[in-house]
Formats: sequence, C-alpha cells, structure tokens
Amino acid sequence: MTEPADFYTGLVADLYSPLRSFTADPARYASFIASSGEPALELGCGDGDPLLDLRALGLDVDGVDSSADMLDRLRASAAARGLSATVYQQRIEDLDLPRRYRSIFLAGATFNLLATDEIAVRALRAIHAHLTGDGTALVPLFVPAPTSADQLGEFRSVVTDDATIRVGVIDEDWDAATRTRRTLLRYERETAAGVELVDRVWLLHWHTPAGFRALAREAGLAVLAVTDDDGAPVGDDAQEFTFRLGRDLSGQ
Ligand SMILES: C[S@@+](CC[C@H](N)C(=O)[O-])C[C@H]1O[C@@H](n2cnc3c(N)ncnc32)[C@H](O)[C@@H]1O
Repeated sequence: MTEPADFYTGLVADLYSPLRSFTADPARYASFIASSGEPALELGCGDGDPLLDLRALGLDVDGVDSSADMLDRLRASAAARGLSATVYQQRIEDLDLPRRYRSIFLAGATFNLLATDEIAVRALRAIHAHLTGDGTALVPLFVPAPTSADQLGEFRSVVTDDATIRVGVIDEDWDAATRTRRTLLRYERETAAGVELVDRVWLLHWHTPAGFRALAREAGLAVLAVTDDDGAPVGDDAQEFTFRLGRDLSGQ
C-alpha cells in the first residue's frame, strides 16, 4: 500500500461530513472544560465538530488541525453560524501556539492517527508544553479490530442533494507487532457530471493502557485517570479508554 501525504484533503475533506457515522457529543467536552477550566484547545478539530458547538455555548476554545481543507470548512461553518473561532493549521506533534490551556482534548480517537510511538511521544511533549500547571488533557484511544473478510469490498453510500457518495474498504494490513492498521479506503462521488474517485490509506496506530501510560511518563505527563466512557477505571485489556493527563508528576 502506498502512503498518501495527507488523508483529510480534497475529495475526502468534501465527503468527511456527509459520510460521518460518528458525531461528537458536545456535552461531554463542555463538562470536561467545566471541570478543568478555560481556555481550552481541541486537537484535530477538523471541520468543527464539536468545536463550533462549544463556541456557541460561549466557551473559550481554540482549535488545531493539520488539514487546510478541513479548516476552510470549519471557517465557512463558523461564518454561517455567526461564530468566531481561533484555529491554527499545525500538526499536533509540532505544536507551537502562543497560549497555554487549562483544558486540551481530542474529540474521538484522533490520537490513534499518529503513526508511531515516536510521533506519539512528540505529541505528548507538545501537550505538556501547552498545558497550564493546573491543566488537564483528555486523550481518547482505541484498539482497532481487523476489518472482517466479508466487509472487504463492501461500500456504504449516502445520497445528497446532487450526488451519491460512497466509501468502502479495498484492502487492509493489521499488524500486531507494530500495533498498526493500514486500511485502503476508496471514496467515490457520483454526480450528473460523472464519477470522481480517490483511494486513501487510513493508518491507525494503537496503544494498550500500559503502553500509553509509559509514553505519557516519557513525555513528563502524570496519568490522572484511565477510564471507560462511563468514567469507570479500565484494565490493561480494555479496547476503548480515555486518559486524563496533567503536568504534575509528584506522587507518581
Ligand atoms: C477523524 S477527524 C475528526 C475531526 C473533528 N473532530 C470533526 O469531527 O470535525 C481527524 C482530524 O484530525 C486531523 N489530524 C490528523 N492527524 C493530525 C496531526 N498529526 N496533527 C493535527 N491534526 C491532525 C485531520 O486533519 C482531521 O481533521
């Protein structure tokens, strides 16, 4: 499989929102910000879900994303809703922002898009550098299962006003040794003018709770909690979990 420069560009950025099967619940992040404080920063804010809903609640939340196309969409939605939002086109692992934040979060498992442990530690160091002393970071993670054989070649389609759009898995490598899943996705948009098609490699790199705890410590971050969606502590075999991280390592 070939490695594309960036996943969320061009046709994929256009189709991301209509094809999305998951919508972030803004209440979850509003409640995190209420407990950890403002200002807040969403990493991988994409086209603005949930950042714009949080701005609509009057919360002081900035955003960061590596994709210019996704940020263009966010700015257009913000303008349409009469909202202002400060967003930066940067990579999480190279973050260099003028503010420090009491809350830093990712909405969904965007951290799993960081391709190696080395990049993950750089991202964690960047989070450390942008947290206030009393700040907290919220990092959701998951362990992706391999796509089953009967799902290969299956397409999901959505009909919009002027197009039929589709996405499906063409091929996949799932490698436990490197904790990496490389999925070749095909995106299609069919309109009266014809069919546009693009193939993209969607790379996910996963961590166990114990492995991620070690990376966080390497980056100088204290692990405040590791929980499931209901806030209950998880074991090391958990497949979906959220880390709460802070800067104070005393007591660990
Ligand atoms: C699954 S999307 C979620 C976006 C957003 N929460 C939404 O729903 O609109 C992941 C986002 O992370 C961004 N992203 C991926 N890797 C990144 C990186 N290393 N640094 C910054 N942004 C990144 C992508 O451009 C994309 O917009």
